[in-house]
Amino acid sequence: MESHKKLLLANKAWVADKLNVREDYFLRMANDQTPEFLWIGCSDSRVPAEDVTGTGPGELFVHRNIANQVIHTDFNMLSVLQYAVEVLKVKHIIVCGHYGCGGVRNALSHQHLGLINKWLRNIKDVYRIHRHELDGIDDEERRLRRLVELNVQEQVWKLAETSFVQHAWQEGRDLHIHGWVYDLHTGLINDLLMLTPRTPVDPIYQLNFDDLKK
Ligand code: CO
Repeated sequence: MESHKKLLLANKAWVADKLNVREDYFLRMANDQTPEFLWIGCSDSRVPAEDVTGTGPGELFVHRNIANQVIHTDFNMLSVLQYAVEVLKVKHIIVCGHYGCGGVRNALSHQHLGLINKWLRNIKDVYRIHRHELDGIDDEERRLRRLVELNVQEQVWKLAETSFVQHAWQEGRDLHIHGWVYDLHTGLINDLLMLTPRTPVDPIYQLNFDDLKK
């Protein structure tokens, strides 16, 4: 059988399973979505957001790209973020990277890979910012694991620097930002950091929304 047909067959079996448990499953699901979490993860096929967190349809609003990047000119990510924060009013944003990330590994190489180099360049910036710590780690694999963690940490701060998050925090919204790293070898998530509402960002990024109220 052609491999894509297996997916369509599996879909039919999945529908049957769901209807077996609740015959109105899809009626309820089609009504509305009220997810509490925005997940920003890597596109890597081995890190399926719902599977590794035991969540199902309706629970996660998901954005995935190579090496879970938060880039301030990426209208795709920004649109997802705005919708999640302002319309869905999620309570948690989770940036989840993963050890063994090919995007992070490639960011350390000097090979020209074409367009993807321009995307991964942002991880070179993470390296440059944390060069002192990273260059002090002799073991290459350990250094790579640490870069994966620092990459997640930087994306978490970049989220806090966005106008959407700052505005939500100034309005007193209960919005937390989490940095996690998934371990492909154990299946476990390493809970790295969490920013609570109104965590101050570097002054250069602080925005004043007073003019909006006039
Ligand atoms: Co990856």
